[in-house]
Amino acid sequence: MATAPTASTEEVYLFNRNDFERKRLNKQHELLVSLCNGNLLHPHIPKAAIGRLADIGTGSGIWLDDVAEKLEPDLEATSSLTEREYAGFDISAAHFPANPRPDTCYIVHDILEPFPNQFHNFYDVVNVRLMVLALKKYDIRVAAMNVAALLSKFYAIKPRPYSPSSLWDRRVAGALIYPSDSIFLEEPGGFFQWEEIETRDLSFNPPSETTTKRPDSQILRPYAIEQAFKELGLVDVIVEDYNSINRLDLINHVREWTKAGAKAALYYALLRGHTVKNEEEAWSASAGLWEAYAAGIDGGIVPSLPLKMILGRKVSVGSAS
Ligand SMILES: C[S@@+](CC[C@H](N)C(=O)[O-])C[C@H]1O[C@@H](n2cnc3c(N)ncnc32)[C@H](O)[C@@H]1O
Repeated sequence: MATAPTASTEEVYLFNRNDFERKRLNKQHELLVSLCNGNLLHPHIPKAAIGRLADIGTGSGIWLDDVAEKLEPDLEATSSLTEREYAGFDISAAHFPANPRPDTCYIVHDILEPFPNQFHNFYDVVNVRLMVLALKKYDIRVAAMNVAALLSKFYAIKPRPYSPSSLWDRRVAGALIYPSDSIFLEEPGGFFQWEEIETRDLSFNPPSETTTKRPDSQILRPYAIEQAFKELGLVDVIVEDYNSINRLDLINHVREWTKAGAKAALYYALLRGHTVKNEEEAWSASAGLWEAYAAGIDGGIVPSLPLKMILGRKVSVGSAS
């Protein structure tokens, strides 16, 4: 089931895979959830109807754990599942929880490789968050295609007599038996949610010359994710904007987050932007930029955290009979 990460893809993740990084991911989670007004899942996702959720590039599994805790009491009595099932996929097992919840499994898998067939059409919600340093802009189509294959196909069941609530009595085809005079309507399937930093809007307020240097044209941007969703035929694609700039309650947290993330991001940007000759030069140039960056923040400059949440749904194909 697990695919061993290749050396080249493993190298792309620039943060250390240690306990410090696990704690940074968990703290970052609190910040991101607060930035998104507590929305772990986009409000358009009907939570009570969701049985299986997956998180790709899950890291420490903090998003999955939090979703599992918040969703638990809401599982619909009519669900074909007796309890929800969660899966976290990541190219590295380094941050997987030592004691996962009994309803959660963790699997090593590279998003750039097709997922094993057993997971195809399986998940009602698939989440991806913060892969900006892990994927290049031109990886997005393959990554999004591999993830979209995991999304379930729903069918609307319209028993006679029709009642509006029956539209939500929807299951993966074959999971339940319906009266022979039921009408099966094809409907969009599972939800694909991706939260990503809008690097274009990453800047100090007021802007600083040092920190507005963004030479990397290959960096993954939310518009490329939105475009990939549409090219894949996902429907109801929407993009929500979140920005910490007017959130006084988040200022200190964003300062710390920015300083912690900036080292790796600057190194990456310089290397990918080909403004340096080699990795060594990228490290020393990024270290210099980072010192100025951190000094600016410590001196009172307020950085912003711009995030976009992109949501789409799979279209079902074929017949439910
Ligand atoms: C910045 S962390 C985000 C972790 C988690 N999504 C969160 O928001 O807390 C990026 C994660 O992506 C994983 N990753 C990097 N490249 C990957 C790939 N090609 N396939 C799957 N996961 C990958 C890293 O191991 C890391 O756990």
